Amino acid sequence: MRCPKCLLCLSALLTLLGLKVYIEWTSESRLSKAYPAPRDTLPGPTTANPEPTLPTNLSARLGQTGPLPLAYWNQQQWRLGTLPSGDSAEAGGCQAWGAAAAAEIPDFATYPEDLRRFLLSAACRSFPRWLPRAGGGQVASCSDTDVPYLLLAVKSEPGRFAERQAVRQTWGSPAPGTRLLFLLGSPVGEAGPDLSSLVAWESHRYSDLLLWDFLDVPFNRTLKDLLLLAWLGHHCPDVTFVLQVQDDAFVHTPALLDHLQALPPTWARSLYLGEVFNQATPLRKAGRPFYVPESFFEGGYPAYASGGGYVIAGRLAPWLLQAAARVAPFPFDDVYTGLCFRALGLVPRAHPGFLTDWPADRTTNHCTVRNLLLVRPLGPQDSIRLWKQLRDPQHQC
Ligand SMILES: *[C@@H]1O[C@H](CO)[C@@H](O)[C@H](O)[C@H]1NC(C)=O
Ligand SMILES: *[C@@H]1O[C@H](CO)[C@@H](O)[C@H](O)[C@H]1NC(C)=O
Repeated sequence: MRCPKCLLCLSALLTLLGLKVYIEWTSESRLSKAYPAPRDTLPGPTTANPEPTLPTNLSARLGQTGPLPLAYWNQQQWRLGTLPSGDSAEAGGCQAWGAAAAAEIPDFATYPEDLRRFLLSAACRSFPRWLPRAGGGQVASCSDTDVPYLLLAVKSEPGRFAERQAVRQTWGSPAPGTRLLFLLGSPVGEAGPDLSSLVAWESHRYSDLLLWDFLDVPFNRTLKDLLLLAWLGHHCPDVTFVLQVQDDAFVHTPALLDHLQALPPTWARSLYLGEVFNQATPLRKAGRPFYVPESFFEGGYPAYASGGGYVIAGRLAPWLLQAAARVAPFPFDDVYTGLCFRALGLVPRAHPGFLTDWPADRTTNHCTVRNLLLVRPLGPQDSIRLWKQLRDPQHQC
């Protein structure tokens, strides 16, 4: 061996090169996750009109212009006037909508259990707040304190105490113009441990939990969106922006605030900002996550921002509620939000600083995150370390 050091160098270089290719490959394949493969996508609204409108014929707005597919959602959307409101008993109310779906979908029995459960109760959308028995833990209305510029509305689940605490200690910690709220279903659960007393204590201690009395499962996340929008109407109508985000995201709050403050006013008025999927279509592999049977939905998804975290203009809350009353239920919260925005004639805006499905080795690097607005997923410990590094002038990049 004439030059063992050269050989060592060469093999190290090759390893590094291989590693780089691998990292790029994995991050690309993971980024294109979600509901991939462009196919016959619905044509999107062409011009970005900044003002929401809600036409009488939503089918056309939602791109249902060709021959009407037989799939249940498409048929429903065609026929739907408004969904039965939760507290009315008109024509059997919200339960009747689900019962009809179960009866009219020929292969309903073969649907995955969570999709069946979703459809049975999908039109039931009014739920009372879940309040701790001992009282206390009231979430103050915005007028009682002051109106936030950016409300951080974090979708959590009752058992995820550590995730919530990490958010409170990091990107959700008090800052001028921001306010932090967590959105949760019932802490009683179905078969799991009863977390009522722990959640009641937490609610009392922090007064930042908005809880409603429904089963907290992923297919019920749209309820959190809709109940939040209704809460905003009553308690925080003048909020400028709302970040709807999962509790395993890391938000670079100062950078996000800077970005929002610099937006052109016409964009800001109708904002729907995040990591945007433009040409996604339903996944058809039964047994896999995000599976959507052909007999339920046909066509492409509207352009939508990934549910990992996106920002909307607060003034759109009442508009979105009106749209939701007339858009047939769909199991994925982010796709459903995309449908509602599309019904209003509004388009999402993509920002490359939102990365909602990033490899763990990147999300924990403060130098990469420094220039981003939101990354996900991150564990509580990683969030805390990252927040410290981002704020520490010693940690130069
Ligand atoms: C709604 O729009 C679609 C597509 O343009 C059209 O085929 C349908 O007739 C319209 N429905 C009504 C009730 O006007
Ligand atoms: C959502 O919550 C409601 C009310 O608790 C429940 O009836 C329904 O089954 C839940 N949805 C799913 C998909 O479990």
